[in-house]
This record gives sequence, structure tokens and C-alpha cells, in this order.
Amino acid sequence: MDQLQAVVLAAGQGTRMKSNKHKVLHKVCGKPMIDYIVDSLQELGIKQPIIVTGYQSEALEEHLGERALFVRQEEQLGTAHAVMQAKELLAEKQGTTLVMHGDHPLFTTETLERLIHHHREQEAAATILTATLPDPTGYGRVIRGEDQLVDGVVEQKDASEEERAICEVNTGTYCFDNEKLLTSLSQVSNDNAQGEYYLPDVITILRSGEERVEATLMDDVNEAHGVNHRVQLAEAEKIMRRRILHQHMVNGVTIIDPDNTYVEAGVTIGSDTVIHPGTHLRGATKIGSDCTIGPQADLTNVVIADSVTVQYSVVLDSQLGEGVNVGPYARIRPGSKLEKQAKVGCFIDMKNAHIGEGTKVPHHAYIGDAKLGKKVNIGCGTITVNYDGRKKQQTVIADGAFVGCNVNLIAPVSVGEGAYVAAGSSINQDVPADGFAIARQRQTVKPQYVKRMKDKL
Ligand code: UD1
Ligand code: MG
Repeated sequence: MDQLQAVVLAAGQGTRMKSNKHKVLHKVCGKPMIDYIVDSLQELGIKQPIIVTGYQSEALEEHLGERALFVRQEEQLGTAHAVMQAKELLAEKQGTTLVMHGDHPLFTTETLERLIHHHREQEAAATILTATLPDPTGYGRVIRGEDQLVDGVVEQKDASEEERAICEVNTGTYCFDNEKLLTSLSQVSNDNAQGEYYLPDVITILRSGEERVEATLMDDVNEAHGVNHRVQLAEAEKIMRRRILHQHMVNGVTIIDPDNTYVEAGVTIGSDTVIHPGTHLRGATKIGSDCTIGPQADLTNVVIADSVTVQYSVVLDSQLGEGVNVGPYARIRPGSKLEKQAKVGCFIDMKNAHIGEGTKVPHHAYIGDAKLGKKVNIGCGTITVNYDGRKKQQTVIADGAFVGCNVNLIAPVSVGEGAYVAAGSSINQDVPADGFAIARQRQTVKPQYVKRMKDKL
């Protein structure tokens, strides 16, 4: 079986991004560009692609770790020079070498498979993946001979006016016969407008040696989109977003308005869930079936069971059990877990809270560092006073307890099973099970007092 290995070029500074961060670490739909490429290559069976690094190599090496092998290109002298840096690693290999650019995150694994298949079937020395773009500006143009075979690639800066009119471009993705790649690379010169060693020159060298050079034209030009600056980054985001949403819809998720729904690459959603506009689903968020999410839900790393509703709310690093209802206007912060059928209503701020099954926190409350049992009812305006200025303290409320409105629970404090706390109380001593606590001043009523005052004046 023909061996397959890959070299990914990522040594360039990406000057046009105007960023302190490495270009390929910029995210598209929540996932760094380079990860899309490495994940695809892994799907193709390449366990450790060779990454050519240069600018900010440490950041890239640290990010990818064991997922890749690295070679450094100290000076960025061009794409052919970049591939040359992998020479020693490639010398041990045979078969097909796939070369890609780190700034092209949109190729699907299927497209790469098709390219490899074509290359092998034609027994070509090189096969170049091309695309026909409505605006080819900036890309290398593909020059085809009268036989329609590829003669070479001309870079924008070296192209004549006639050549610039060609819309078929080099996507920067190629298959090479490994051995032939290595021999031709050493013949590439830097005699061109940019004084660089161009990888596409390998194509011309192979052709002049009577080698077979093939090109496969892509069906979906959206995949050919590269990222050199922020405008292209936003375009890549848009293409990827549509692709992600499309896949969820195919899987049985209703997306009311795909133009106003933002789902990152790592999110999973169960069937018959409906996603309303203005919703952002981020990180490792996992949503069950039959849920209603949004409008305006912003969820990061949230694990959600089935039949959950979240409207106009922000939830971070938390878990929501089956049938839970959140919002509108709740903020649930990290470390919270809402058990089955719990309800967290409007204007609730919550942090590191465990909310038992069927418990209700319907409106205007702060619940932080707290453990609430089953079927607890929390009245409007209740606050767990969890911070004494130095440390965070815990509040524990047992099953079936009832906390009236506007209660301060001054932690550490506990309310026993079935206990009641009267509205307006500030509680700083534990309330026993089935007990009743009231901690507020007794009301004084002065009959006719107002009238007497008014008469006096
Ligand atoms: C390159 C191709 C062009 C193609 C286009 C597709 C060449 C000469 N041109 O142009 O035909 O249409 O990609 O997007 O290959 N890199 C290195 N070391 C270097 C130079 C570049 O690692 O010395 C890396 C960059 O980090 C980048 C990739 O190679 O990931 C492409 O470099 P870039 O400068 O973006 O090339 P383009 O001008 O886009
Ligand atoms: Mg580029």
C-alpha cells in the first residue's frame, strides 16, 4: 500500500493579519485554523503530520504537542524552501506526500481524499488542487497547456495581464510523489518578483522532465478560501458557520434563522431541538433532544439533557438536567448543576450552585456557593451572602425548605429539611428541619399617626 504523509506550511508571519498571535492559531467558529487541518489529516490516517514552523514556533508546538512533528524554517524564504526543511523526515518516506498551507482551514476530508485518489489513480508525479474563483486576485494562476495539462503556476506578482485574467487558481494543496518532490525541490530557484523559492515551481520542473502533472478542480469553491487577513478570516467564519449549521439541520435540529445563529465546531445537538435566533453555542457544549434554546442564549461548555428550555440567558461551564427551565435573563456561572425539572427564572445570578430536582428559583435572586435540595422554593430577592470579604462560604438548604422573599442567607449557614424562613429575614444561624425562622424587626403600627402629623403642620 502506498504510504501517505503530510507537510503543513505554517512558518510565515502572517503580516497581513496585524496580530501578535500566530495566524493559524486564530479561530474559525471557535477552533484554531490549524486544528481543522490536523484533524482532517488524522481522519486520513496521518497520525503526525509534519508542521513547518518559524514565526512563533513555540506557540504552535505547544498548541499541537503530540499531534504533529515539527521542523523549523528559521528564515522564510518561500514555500519551496519551507518544504525543504522537512527533507530529512521525508527522506525516510515513500509514496505520496500531501502538502498544505496552514492558512486554509476549509478543505473537507472528502476533498482531500478525492485529491489523493486522483493522484494515485493517475500515477502522477504531482497533482495540484485547483479552484475557479470569481475573483482570483492574490492567488497563483494555473497555466494549462493545449493538452489541458498543467504547465505551471504563475504568482500574482509575476503574472502578465493575460495570465492575471485566468480564474483557475492554486489552492496551495498538492499531492507529490515523495521521491520526485525531493529531487525537484533542490532545483527550485528564487529568480522571481518576490525573490522567493516558490513551491509551485516544482510543477514546472516536473513537467519539463516529462513527468505527469495533474490538476483536480474543486466542486465547492468555498473550500478554497484562504486566510491572509481579517476580512478573509470573517469570510472563512461565515462559510464554516453555514457548514456547521447545515450539518446540524441534516441531523434533525431546527435552526430558525441560520444567519443569526452561531454554533462552534465542537458543539453537539440532539434531534428535534429548536435553536432560536441570536444564540451562541460555544466550546464543548452538548445539547440533548427536544430542547428549546434561545432566543439569545449564550452557552459555553454547558452539558444539557433532553427537553430543556433556555431563553435570553448566559450559561458557563455548567450542567442542566432533563426538563430544566432557565431564563429569561439568567446568568449561570461555572460549577453549577441543575437537577431534573429545576427552574431558574428571570434575573437570577448563580455561581457554583447545586440545585436539586424540582427546585425553583423563579426571580431576582443571587445563589452562589450553595447546595439546594429537592423541591426547595426560593422567594424573590433572596441572596446567599457567600463572601465575607476574605473567603467564599457555603449555604445549604435541604429538601422541601421554603425561603420567603428578600431573605439574606449569611453563609456559612444551613436551612433544614422542610423548614421555613420568613420573608425579609437575615439568617446567620442554622435553621433546624421543620423549624421556622424569622429574623427581622417586629412591625410597629401607629394608628392615625399620619393624620396627626398633617394636622399639626
Ligand atoms: C501561496 C501560493 C499560491 C497559492 C496560495 C494559496 C506560493 C509561492 N504561492 O501564495 O500559488 O495560490 O498560496 O493560498 O506557494 N510559508 C512558510 N514559509 C515561507 C513562506 C510561506 O511556511 O517561507 C507558509 C505560510 O505560513 C502560509 C503558506 O506557506 O501558511 C502560504 O504562504 P503565503 O505567504 O500565504 O502564500 P500566498 O501568497 O498565499
Ligand atoms: Mg496565503
